[in-house]
Amino acid sequence: MSNHKTNFLKTCFSQIARPTPIWLMRQAGRYMKEYQAVRQKVKFLELCHNPQLCAEVTLTAREKLAVDAAIIFADILLIINTLGIEVVFKEPGGPSILTPVRNIDQINNFKEADVLNDLSYVFEAIKLAKSGLPIDIPLIGFAGAPFTLFCYLVEGGSSNNYNLAKQLLLSNDEFSHKLLNLLTQITITYLQAQIDAGADAIQLFDSWIGILSYHSFQNIVLPYLQKIRNAFDRNIPFIYFGQGASHLYPLIKSIDATVNSIDWRMEIMPAWNTLGYDKAIQGNLDPAILLSNYDTIKAEVIHILNQVNNRPGFIFNLGHGILPQTPFENAKYLVDLVHDLTS
Ligand code: CP3
Repeated sequence: MSNHKTNFLKTCFSQIARPTPIWLMRQAGRYMKEYQAVRQKVKFLELCHNPQLCAEVTLTAREKLAVDAAIIFADILLIINTLGIEVVFKEPGGPSILTPVRNIDQINNFKEADVLNDLSYVFEAIKLAKSGLPIDIPLIGFAGAPFTLFCYLVEGGSSNNYNLAKQLLLSNDEFSHKLLNLLTQITITYLQAQIDAGADAIQLFDSWIGILSYHSFQNIVLPYLQKIRNAFDRNIPFIYFGQGASHLYPLIKSIDATVNSIDWRMEIMPAWNTLGYDKAIQGNLDPAILLSNYDTIKAEVIHILNQVNNRPGFIFNLGHGILPQTPFENAKYLVDLVHDLTS
């Protein structure tokens, strides 16, 4: 971690910092014309495998928005290549895994993961992005959380309800623990290598954790999340994003993340109260608000800032990824407004 304590890093540790730091989940993406221009030339996976281009889109999004942190351009599904599993990205349609993982023999036949080598292009992209960032702007590394990766592996892609993944999780202990354990191990290696390459903070994306009951989460998945968290130095900000997970907050609190990233479904203060005021919070504007107009955006931002009421430890973000149809001016307006209102 750089010694230069930026607003973002200070806020992760609940220290006073003004203006309020802001970055946007999925800030490098299709809503941005510079990103579209890159994607005209290369397919999504080619982009992911090209460190120069990944660094470029990371830095361009950071600069154009003037946000307080950059997030390395990559995808949570790249890691499954280390197990010998192929994923393609269809346009439209999203990720597709050619051979979904549904029995233990498949797990036993996975390739032995060589994370450092197989994902070297991500670490290279991190080094390049770091060298292009201003000294006071940190770089966030990330990975998918074990259960969210489990969902994609079992279903073979995105799903409306992830019922198949849930069914296997709840009915086949041997399969589930074997897969979750493996995903946990490679995720720890992956995130540590991102830190070693220069990432200043790490975020774990648990996009589908909200489909689990309190008891299933507690019994089956939570120990893996605690294991990942405890593998990291407490001086590196560890951000946990669980979507649709407000019913799990009393348990998520026990992960002891430096920062809890929350979606837009619940008001920020009751969420913060449950997750613990001693930890920082990140969120939680509904990304759909950015499809409206300046007046609506302003009213929602003021609503959030009024509740937070200058309490230290608040990082402004969206409650989920920015939508592809978002007008760039609206995203930029949001960033400038948050800075103006809190400086
Ligand atoms: O935030 C950033 O700027 C960094 C880049 C980033 C991407 N994916 C690039 C991407 C990050 C942080 C992710 C995380 C990710 N990927 C998540 C967790 C966050 C979330 O949204 O819940 C998940 C579930 C994925 C898996 C994934 N990747 C899906 C389901 C899709 C298709 C749906 C979609 O958004 O298009 C992707 C593709 C993807 N990942 C794109 C980008 C910019 C769009 C691909 C394109 O350029 O056509």
